Formats: sequence, C-alpha cells, structure tokens
Amino acid sequence: MLTNTEFSIRSAFSILYEYCYLIIPVSLACIAVKRRYLSLLSKHPGPFWASVTRLWKLYLTSRGRSHIDLPALHDKYGPIVRIAPNEVSLASPEAARQLLSAGKGFHKTSFYWVFPPPSNPDIFTEIREHVHAQKKRVANVPYSMAAMQQLAPFIEDTIDMFFEKLDGFTHANDTTVDLGAWLHYFAFDVLGEVAFSRKFGFLEQGVDVEKAIKTIDDSQWYNGLIGQIPELDYVFRRNPIWSLLPNTGPGLITRIALSEMDKRKPFENIEKSDRQDLLASLIKGHLKDPSKFSTGDVFAVAHGAIFAGSDSTASTMQSFFYHVLKNAPIYAKLQSEIETAARSGTISAKVQWSEAQQLPYFQACLKETFRMRPAVGLNITRAVPVGGAEIDGVKYAAGTEIAVNGWVLHRDKTIFGDDVDVFRPERWLDDKENAKNMERYLFHFGGGSHVCIGRNLALLEINKVLPHLLREYTFKLARPDAELTAHTTFFVVQEGLDVYITRNKA
Ligand code: HEM
Repeated sequence: MLTNTEFSIRSAFSILYEYCYLIIPVSLACIAVKRRYLSLLSKHPGPFWASVTRLWKLYLTSRGRSHIDLPALHDKYGPIVRIAPNEVSLASPEAARQLLSAGKGFHKTSFYWVFPPPSNPDIFTEIREHVHAQKKRVANVPYSMAAMQQLAPFIEDTIDMFFEKLDGFTHANDTTVDLGAWLHYFAFDVLGEVAFSRKFGFLEQGVDVEKAIKTIDDSQWYNGLIGQIPELDYVFRRNPIWSLLPNTGPGLITRIALSEMDKRKPFENIEKSDRQDLLASLIKGHLKDPSKFSTGDVFAVAHGAIFAGSDSTASTMQSFFYHVLKNAPIYAKLQSEIETAARSGTISAKVQWSEAQQLPYFQACLKETFRMRPAVGLNITRAVPVGGAEIDGVKYAAGTEIAVNGWVLHRDKTIFGDDVDVFRPERWLDDKENAKNMERYLFHFGGGSHVCIGRNLALLEINKVLPHLLREYTFKLARPDAELTAHTTFFVVQEGLDVYITRNKA
C-alpha cells in the first residue's frame, strides 16, 4: 500500500513526465517575458525579437548592412533603441562623447575578445582596461605624428610605385581601372613599409596577393558575427577540435610579421638596425620594460596594425573619391584648388603634411567623407561600469551594453544641419565656430582611451597621396549612376570604384 506522500510524489512525477516536452518552451517563454517586460531596458523601444534574444543582433550583423540598418532603426524608434536584451544603441552625439570619453569608466565589451589573437591580445582586442593602458603607453610612441613623419619618405616611395602602376592605365581612354582595389593595395603596402620596412607586393603584382585582403575580410566576418554572442567562440575557434581541422597555415601577413620578428633577433642589437620602423620601436619599448610589454605584445601590436589599418584607410580613400567624383562641381572646385596650390608652390612635388593643411577645400572634402561614410560600420560598444551610470540624462545599470555608430551619430541634424544626407564640404567652411563644434562630434576615429592609435599614420598617408593623385590625374567614374557596393561586419568594405584615368599635363 502506498502512503499519501508517496502517492503525491508519484503523481507529481507522472504529471511532469507527461508534460516534460513543455519544460523548454515554458522556460524560454518565461525568460522572454522577463527580458521583454521586467528589464530596466523595457522602457526603450526596439524590435520585439531584439529585446528577448541576442540572436536578433546576430541576424542583423549577418546582413552586413549595419551602416544602413542602424540609422533606419533610429529613424523608426527614436534616439534610444533596444537592440539586444542587455543593449541599447544611442543616436545622440553628446551621449557618444560621454560614453567614449577617457576616465568615465565605460569599458570594452567581450565583443572585442573574439578578435584574434586570443592568446596575446593587442591594443584593439585587449579588454582589461589597465593592461590596455599599459600596452598603449608603449605603442603611442611609434604612432606619434613626429615618429610617423620620420617614415614619410617611405610613404612617398610607395606613392611613386602606385603612380607608375596607374600610368599603365592612362594611355587607353576606354580602359576602366578599379581605383578602389589599387587604393587598397596602396594602403597595404604603406603599412608593410611602416611596420616592417618592406612592401607586401600588392602594388608590384597588382593583385590581392595570396588572397590576403579576402582572408582579412573573412576573418572580420567571423569576428563581427561571433562577437555578437562571444560565447559561441568556444564552439568554433576556441574549440580544441577546431585546431585539428586542416588549415593552410599562417597567411602572407602573419608569415611576414613572424619572419621580420626573427630577423631582428637578438633584440638587443635593434639600435644598430638601419630602419627605425614600427616593429623596431615596439621592440625598444619591450626592452625598456619586458614585464609591461612582452615579445608577444610586440608581435601582436605590429601584426594587428596591418589588420586595423588596411581596410580602414582604403575604405576612407575610396569613399573620398566616390563622393568627389560623383559631384562634378565639387570635383572641379577641388581640382582648381590643387592646381592653384601647385602653380603657386604651396604644395611641392611630394605633397607634405603641412602643405596639405593649406588646402581648405581638400580638408573640407576629407572631413565630409569622415562624416558621411565612417570606415567602421559596426557599432562601437561599451559596458556600463560598476555602480551604474547616467548618460545624457538616462540611467543605466552596471553591465548594460551601450552602442554607438558613426553612421547614426554623424547624421544628427542639430549638429550637422538639415542636409545631413548630402555630401556638402562647404558645411565645414561656412562658419568657423560651427565647424569646430561639428568636429567635436566626429567619431570616425572612435574616442577617449580607445581612440584609434593609427590615426596619425592614416591622416599622414591620406594627406600625402590624395592631393598628389588629384594633381597628377583626372578621374572619371565609369558608371556615374552606380552606388559603391558596401558590406560591413566591422570595417565598411567597398567595391565598384571603377574609373577612367588620364594624366594631367605638367
Ligand atoms: C582612416 C583610417 C582609420 C579609421 C577610420 C580608423 C578607425 C578606428 C576606430 C573608429 C577605432 C575605434 C574602434 C573601437 O573603439 O571599437 C579604431 C581603433 C584602432 N585603430 Fe584605427 N582607424 C584607421 C586607421 C588605423 C591605422 C592605420 C591603424 C594602425 C596602423 C589603426 C589601428 C587601430 C588600433 C590598434 C585601434 C584600437 C585602439 C584602442 O582600442 O586603444 N587604425 N580605429
């Protein structure tokens, strides 16, 4: 005979057994209701699925159109949009300043942790703020504008090679040139010179050598996607089985970085080496205090520079040409400024940084490019520190993730004017005070303690090569009505800048 208690336990188990198939859906529904309606973020609007699962953000990122989708989401839902159960995207440039300012305690999220190298994070992927600060102090030295200026002759040397290649296309009027691809090759070879005192061979061969550009693009696709749910990295790349899968070994850039490291050994002789490139400076930083900047850091930072600096600089130069060539009056005004400067000697044969600063219209076109098409198309995300925080008058709990995106921020009409969707360099020239204010709210290089470390190099390179190109050649879009195709899972990768080129008469 069963006692009453035994009977009740058995009945409970049999009911549970009978309805066990409901356990998972009911639990999921409870989690969804809690996230959707009982979270501190519930008051912020956004797509339903975004509020209940991060899979929605994974889906959004997989579309490769964050630079288009995020502004559209803000148009639909307003200045604060809930884009994941624990994450909001903010449209206000003032909020972005607060979020990205140094010393406010907002720190990088585990999104960055997915980016390689997992064993030895570089400046970009290091999410422990104090370790990041330590590494960045060492790396800031070789990235200063003064240090970059020392390397200017090697940028000039790469420009010469670039022009030699372009000259090969100027004879036949009906031959189109993929200017976007050549700008990409140029950006890579400059980085090779700056980091390792050697070109990677992109310009020389005129192709994506060993598909290095594609490899970086594929790796960005993985990082950008998996970074939305970083735990997934344990299923894939951090899964020990992954390393057993057949692979082709290190790619071109990694091989060159490794062999250059080897060539510089023993590091103690570095002072005697004839070229003080980025790698040499990083090695010196390591020798000063190996406990704060290890040999692993030397490799990670030098190698990471190529990944962080190539697509970003190429994308910016492509966007510049795209907008300028699409607007005949803007192109004509720019050509006239450059021609006058060349005739009067304001710019010399090899355009110098200081000379390019004397070209107001060129500078306005560049700023307008940074505004309209920032090279990072994915959100920049930070986590709220312990104790919570208030941004732009709204309180957020500790651990909440806050995202901002240049493609959204740079379209704020209160800062940039009603015509934010128009490429209009004049907005930077109309009123000096207004231009200063707009500049405070440009985030194309990020901001605060994580501001782009390579910005001096990128600006130097761009300020040298673009005026020089405009002086030497006339470009015409091959398909003036076509848009550039662009996709992003971090940087905006673009294709379709096909042009006709003619050499200008001396
Ligand atoms: C026009 C060209 C470039 C643009 C628009 C650009 C943009 C950016 C942005 C927006 C960030 C912040 C990302 C974030 O916080 O998630 C960043 C960070 C970074 N960039 Fe650049 N970048 C450019 C060129 C370069 C170059 C040439 C290098 C190196 C040679 C470089 C190396 C880095 C590194 C290492 C970081 C991480 C900084 C940190 O977290 O402290 N970038 N860049």
